[in-house]
Amino acid sequence: MRFRIYRYDPESGANLENKPWMQDYEITFDPRGKKVLDALIAIKDTLDESLSFRRSCREGVCGSDGVNVNGVNVLACVTALEGLKQPIEIRPLPRLGVVRDLIVDMAQFYQHYRAVKPYLINLDPEPENERLQSPQDRAELDGLWECILCGCCTTACPSFWWNPDKFLGPAALLQSYRFIADTRDQATNERLDFLEDPYRLFRCHGIMNCVEVCPKGLNPLAAIGKIKTLLVKRAL
Ligand code: SF4
Ligand code: SF4
Ligand code: FES
Repeated sequence: MRFRIYRYDPESGANLENKPWMQDYEITFDPRGKKVLDALIAIKDTLDESLSFRRSCREGVCGSDGVNVNGVNVLACVTALEGLKQPIEIRPLPRLGVVRDLIVDMAQFYQHYRAVKPYLINLDPEPENERLQSPQDRAELDGLWECILCGCCTTACPSFWWNPDKFLGPAALLQSYRFIADTRDQATNERLDFLEDPYRLFRCHGIMNCVEVCPKGLNPLAAIGKIKTLLVKRAL
């Protein structure tokens, strides 16, 4: 199988101009039942131990191996090799700084995540056991809590590319709505105040890249739409 992989190593001295380059690899590998991450590991094990990428769970759970494969943001560990056009081109997630090879700097992404206060805010005295919800209220959180913060959606979003420091991006907005929708949370107004801003929320133009790439099948655009509806209702 043939691969073309983005390389960048600011420390090796191998690339004296300190510029990224695309490196070709050819490896004998039966792709049946195998994922992109299996090929990356095989290349690292047998051809080039300097190739760097993140991964942990290998099961689509930890969210650490988001990469861009043939132009689409995916999790390498759940993306089948079979059917991919060769040479398979693998790049880091777009628009984030590259630390090395396929490893991106997620600081901006997490800064937006932290900004939406992704935790329950409830000032009532703590109950003895737990804060109960009705099954219906709990069901409102489905499609929200499953996010693994892989960054595939936010880095596929043109609005984020243009305003990465100001537009929160689909992942952070989905998580903001996850707590707005939680009947145990008491900070809805504070959360909406924060989002009522020309950039943080309203830079979403409904382009839907986020929905198309989410490996967990989530719909950040729907969550963004619900936040916008709440803001409109609040203003009436
Ligand atoms: S729908 Fe909004 S958040 Fe999603 S990719 Fe498009 S602009 Fe970005
Ligand atoms: S919404 Fe989907 S694509 Fe975006 S960070 Fe969460 S799991 Fe990843
Ligand atoms: S290695 Fe954990 S999601 Fe892919």
